[in-house]
Amino acid sequence: MTAQADLQRFVAEAVADISQAQDLDQLKIARLAHAGDKSPIAGQSRLLGSLPADQKASMGKIIGEARATVALAIETKTQELETLKDAKVLSTEVVDVSLPVQRGHKGGLHPLTILKNEINDFFIAQGYSVAEGPELESEWLNFDALNIAPDHPARTMQDTFFIEPRDAHLVLRTHTSPVQIRTMLENKPPIYVICPGRTFRADELDATHTPVFHQVEGLVVDKGITMAHLKGTLDLFAQKMFGDQAITRLRPSFFPFTEPSAEVDVFFNGRWIEWGGCGMVNSKVLQACGVDSETYSGFAFGMGLERTLMVRHGITDMHDIVEGDIRFSRKFGVGL
Ligand code: DAH
Repeated sequence: MTAQADLQRFVAEAVADISQAQDLDQLKIARLAHAGDKSPIAGQSRLLGSLPADQKASMGKIIGEARATVALAIETKTQELETLKDAKVLSTEVVDVSLPVQRGHKGGLHPLTILKNEINDFFIAQGYSVAEGPELESEWLNFDALNIAPDHPARTMQDTFFIEPRDAHLVLRTHTSPVQIRTMLENKPPIYVICPGRTFRADELDATHTPVFHQVEGLVVDKGITMAHLKGTLDLFAQKMFGDQAITRLRPSFFPFTEPSAEVDVFFNGRWIEWGGCGMVNSKVLQACGVDSETYSGFAFGMGLERTLMVRHGITDMHDIVEGDIRFSRKFGVGL
């Protein structure tokens, strides 16, 4: 029975090697050597076929037991080494929660951008689209199409930045109202848009003025639109901006592109504050844009974003909004 003695030795060697493995890599080497296809025990299995029939069964059983012993040794060692490995990971990969954190600042949006996003979200939720026009605008869209006559005071050099050469008839837009015209020229009613954007007037920067500022324009053109729709929209908008208690009032006024026109005031912190302009779109403007003013009517409004922000947050100096000092901006949150 030398074959049997050989097997006992192979098993003893296998168990010894397996038990000496220090880590899973070493165990793998031992497994291949003692349980793989080229191991001595596998060699014995291959010889089974050439044994006489009466020895086959008993030898097969002995080989099976040898394999089982080796397999159990591998299994036991694997579990032992894995537990050891996990324990090692736990002890070496400890996080020191007392280490100082990285103090980098992530940056954030400017308060005006946060406000603009808030306004966009509010109107988008009501089915409006957001339209944008160019800051460098044609004189015709900025003034003429809005029924602002050539001798209107808003056109004079003191107010408007005209762009050279003068006969190109380009201006830095003085309001967002030309986007109304662009929208009506490009789309058929029903129209529900707001147009936020940057606007320019030749003012000195002081506590309440800035030559580069922002407005948001609203325009609705549909069948049966009345001033009641305008008032309701302004009230909701005011409540969104200034809180649920806010109410608006309209004071008769004049804008060439609306008829009738009104100033919008908002009641906030116990007093009435001028907020913007509004009115029913002048039928001359509708007609200039190819809208049938017999079938359709519309309302429009325009507000300053800086003014809205100043009123809402009690900001008394425009410089704070313009300068971009993050100590100011941070109070409004990052808006991201
Ligand atoms: N465009 C006007 C301005 O800048 C504001 C304005 C008034 C806009 C009345 C409107 C409106 O849409 O209907 O002073």
